[in-house]
Amino acid sequence: MSDITEALSYDDVLLAPQASAVLPRDVDVSARLHANVQLSLPLLSAAMDKVTEAGMAIALARQGGLGVVHKSAPVEVQAGMVEAVKRSESGFIIDPVTLRPEEPVGKAFDLMAKFRVSGFPVVDPAGRLVGIVTNRDLRLVEDDGTPVREHMTTRGLITAAVGTTLEQARDLMQEHRVEKLPIVEPADTGDEHGLLVGMFTFKDIEKVRKYPSAAKDARGRLLCGAAVGVGPEGEERAEALVAAGVDLLGIDSAHGHSAGILEFAAKLKDRHPDVVLMVGNVATGDAVRACADHGADVVKVGVGPGSICTTRVVTGVGMPQFTAVLECARVGNELGVATVADGGIRYSGDVVKALAAGATTVMVGNLLAGTDESPGEQVLVGGRRYKEYRGMGSVEAMRSGSADRYFQAEVAERSGPSQAEASKLVPEGVSGLLPYRGAVGEVTGQLEGGIRSGMGYLGARTLPELAERARFVRQSAAGARESHVHDVDVVHEAPNYQVPGRG
Ligand code: XMP
Repeated sequence: MSDITEALSYDDVLLAPQASAVLPRDVDVSARLHANVQLSLPLLSAAMDKVTEAGMAIALARQGGLGVVHKSAPVEVQAGMVEAVKRSESGFIIDPVTLRPEEPVGKAFDLMAKFRVSGFPVVDPAGRLVGIVTNRDLRLVEDDGTPVREHMTTRGLITAAVGTTLEQARDLMQEHRVEKLPIVEPADTGDEHGLLVGMFTFKDIEKVRKYPSAAKDARGRLLCGAAVGVGPEGEERAEALVAAGVDLLGIDSAHGHSAGILEFAAKLKDRHPDVVLMVGNVATGDAVRACADHGADVVKVGVGPGSICTTRVVTGVGMPQFTAVLECARVGNELGVATVADGGIRYSGDVVKALAAGATTVMVGNLLAGTDESPGEQVLVGGRRYKEYRGMGSVEAMRSGSADRYFQAEVAERSGPSQAEASKLVPEGVSGLLPYRGAVGEVTGQLEGGIRSGMGYLGARTLPELAERARFVRQSAAGARESHVHDVDVVHEAPNYQVPGRG
């Protein structure tokens, strides 16, 4: 047995204030996870089935962060979610969903629901634009089997040429009162139908203006991450996600520093060298080194800090999160690998501490699970609104597809609907309810505000400067008590503070 070393959690430390000439409104909170994944807010949403599906990934990317879509769904469903994020908005859509004139309008309805779009260009087999069909054209259709041809607009189509700017497109659409502007290039001379090469939509252009800090790829589409497991199913999943346009693949495991995960990471990197690869979870510098050696671009840090995690009490294993982040970020920075501080974030101050300890970004589950954009409905208990949240290691979540994260896939498969067999699963998480927290933008606004203020106190203009300037002090239990609200009988709710333990 080695010597016992001390490890700390967020509440054990504080950042000493420093002389500053920096105002919170002037700081830059952008974070670079990778050359292809640049965020304007250092925040990822957890790959959990009560946290990140398409709605969350879209909302978070609009605020400048990144959603990592969970993998407890069939491959095609998860890939569909990624596709929905990638198609949700971009000033210019390079490969719009199209229909053929002979296809039934039922297909148009399906695609409208899937991609939440209101209409489609109609093209012939050579890719020439022959019409446009929108929900307005289809409002009165009674038979889903009638061909699109019968309902599409063909005359006086408003189109524009390659090279049209966002502003020109907007003016044109406003002038002609249309919602979509196909971009065409001439087909062979004399042909009235040009080849469809892309499309602007009015809605997207408005969103570009509404969300100026959105996290986007080189083609102007929102960034999106997604989780995969290992083995042949993981490979198939990765394949489908890459085809759907995913920007970051995260290998989702409770123990990233294990042979099977590392081998799979190397394989995945080999097969998809252009996709950013995130590997985790780990809690030591050695593990970060191992992940980097096996192709990780980003390493996710956190063994047991999560609000719904019981890994540490069930297995006796883990590392208080502040020390884990400090150690892993130090090694990550040495190796040029980004680190994500995953789990255990309760307040914006914890985010500041994680970033000051050197993490590139944080990942949160709890803080986002109670929002409008997380999957699931609100529930009313005693007149208050809640949303369900559960650990991916809870029995419920493992039975719906996350058991492999805890190396228990075979038990879950055997158990099927049987309660008796399910009791053989060894959970490392719980399920419960969280207070409803409003829209994602409200939560991220508070988190960003806290980060900005923290940087102001330290005189840091950028996140790398925050880590450079950070001087942590250890606080005693009395110090931690003093840090929280004390000696007040009734505490009114604040948007960025809950009394500890009250959820
Ligand atoms: P927060 O604190 O934001 O943490 O709710 C979210 C992170 O917790 C991890 N996670 C789990 N860890 N058992 C665990 O030990 C679980 O059941 C579990 N579910 C999620 C995960 O890393 C997530 O991002």
